[in-house]
Amino acid sequence: MERILILDFGSQYTMLIARRIREMNVYCDIVPFNKIPAIDSEVKGIVLSGSPSSVTAENAPRPDLGGVPEELPILGICYGAQWLAWSRGGKVYSSDTREYGRALLSVKDAQDPLLKDIPAESQVWMSHGDTINSLPEGYKVIASTASVDNAAFRISGKPVWGIQFHAEVHHSDYGRQILRNFVLGICGCAGDWTPDSFIESTVAGLREQIGSEKVVLGLSGGVDSSVAALLLHRAIGPQLHCIFVDSGLLRKDEFSSVLASYKGMGLNVKGVEAGDKFLSDLAGVTDPEQKRKIIGRDFVEVFNAEAEKIEDVRWLAQGTIYPDVIESSAVPGASATIKSHHNVGGLPKDMKLKVVEPLRLLFKDEVRRVGKALGLDPEILGRHPFPGPGLGIRVLGEVTPEKVAILQEADKIYIDSLKREGLYDQIWQAGAMLLPIKSVGVMGDERTYEYTIALRAVTSVDGMTADWVRLPYDFLAEMSDTIIRRVKGVNRVVYDICSKPPATIEWE
Ligand code: XMP
Repeated sequence: MERILILDFGSQYTMLIARRIREMNVYCDIVPFNKIPAIDSEVKGIVLSGSPSSVTAENAPRPDLGGVPEELPILGICYGAQWLAWSRGGKVYSSDTREYGRALLSVKDAQDPLLKDIPAESQVWMSHGDTINSLPEGYKVIASTASVDNAAFRISGKPVWGIQFHAEVHHSDYGRQILRNFVLGICGCAGDWTPDSFIESTVAGLREQIGSEKVVLGLSGGVDSSVAALLLHRAIGPQLHCIFVDSGLLRKDEFSSVLASYKGMGLNVKGVEAGDKFLSDLAGVTDPEQKRKIIGRDFVEVFNAEAEKIEDVRWLAQGTIYPDVIESSAVPGASATIKSHHNVGGLPKDMKLKVVEPLRLLFKDEVRRVGKALGLDPEILGRHPFPGPGLGIRVLGEVTPEKVAILQEADKIYIDSLKREGLYDQIWQAGAMLLPIKSVGVMGDERTYEYTIALRAVTSVDGMTADWVRLPYDFLAEMSDTIIRRVKGVNRVVYDICSKPPATIEWE
């Protein structure tokens, strides 16, 4: 599989470089700067990322490019460019003013292949504290900005370029074109890494890896585990045994509808109703972390007990995706913090199964594209993220069957209404919480003393930061009216207007 290697020096934008390259249907890997793999003929080029460090600092990340063939194209971005200049005798100084924000890039060499189809002047995004004051001999400036002479350069006669601006960010108007020029033009990548080709090669790989052995997989109703299951199903059919656990903490009717949908897709799936166990173990527990632990432990117990019934099972499949993989090997720095935390609760570690992770190369949106190509039910495909512990952390404080039932009703009204009004797909995640307090109200001639439902809806990219959605007032008014009218036990509805940070998405 042809690919581009991205050497990560810890920039917050490293993942974005990968996203841009993947958008060209070219596969790329992010690897720590000090763990460069052997370069085979499938590696078509190398990108050196940015970094929060200064190249002149004593403990700055310094890659060893000794094993990289001379003819392999290299593009250094920001720190990567500064390192290319500094390590060969150029002068890099910290500038008095941090160069941050928009700048106008002027092309000096319109013939250079990196700048093909880039206008004489265009906006780029700068974000660096250091700047290259002088380039080593044999380096040629190909573009400048008003304050940065050496904004882009090439080593004459070699396929090595450096740019001090961030071509990967949205604010660089022709940034995508510059990256295309490098990846598709200079590196000569074919751009044929599509969902279909991914499915074909992954299915072949899984067949070889697994042979005639059996695999067990825990389905959650979410996109990742569902797509992992469909891929494995295509590869090994009935050798795949799926387990879908009803913790009693799922959304209303979700267990039966999702189970039916899985069966409709031909999956060999066993639904296990274990709500009573979870709810009785949660009785009297109010601390959120304690609740998480109990739910996680119960899940493992129920899953294990089912998995043990499958004779001769050898593999455990997991829906791990690319951001989780990079997270575990990342360079300390900003890119390490971009992570959807605590996904995949503790799955059985003591089962002595070999682990297979068919999605470990994919970003979330790629998982969706692959899921679509595999015919995943659109209801599951477009589903908002849902926390592993489910409604167990959305019933604040002690979880009881009555409270879960109240929350399920309110949540269903809310989510169904978002879908009906065409709002659901514009939202990253939405849900209702049941607060552990009662307040006074009046209904008809009677005084009431009942629970409060809090509604939450956020936009986000990765769950690390989020903003609250400005839902229309009329919609909120209708939600308050409908929920209080239809859900017994609720007499007040509030809407959460906090972003993350300082708040979190979930309330527990
Ligand atoms: P917070 O509340 O930390 O949530 O802003 C960020 C994202 O993570 C989800 N979340 C969880 N997912 N197990 C999970 O699998 C958990 O314990 C958990 N807690 C929060 C949350 O729904 C949001 O998408």
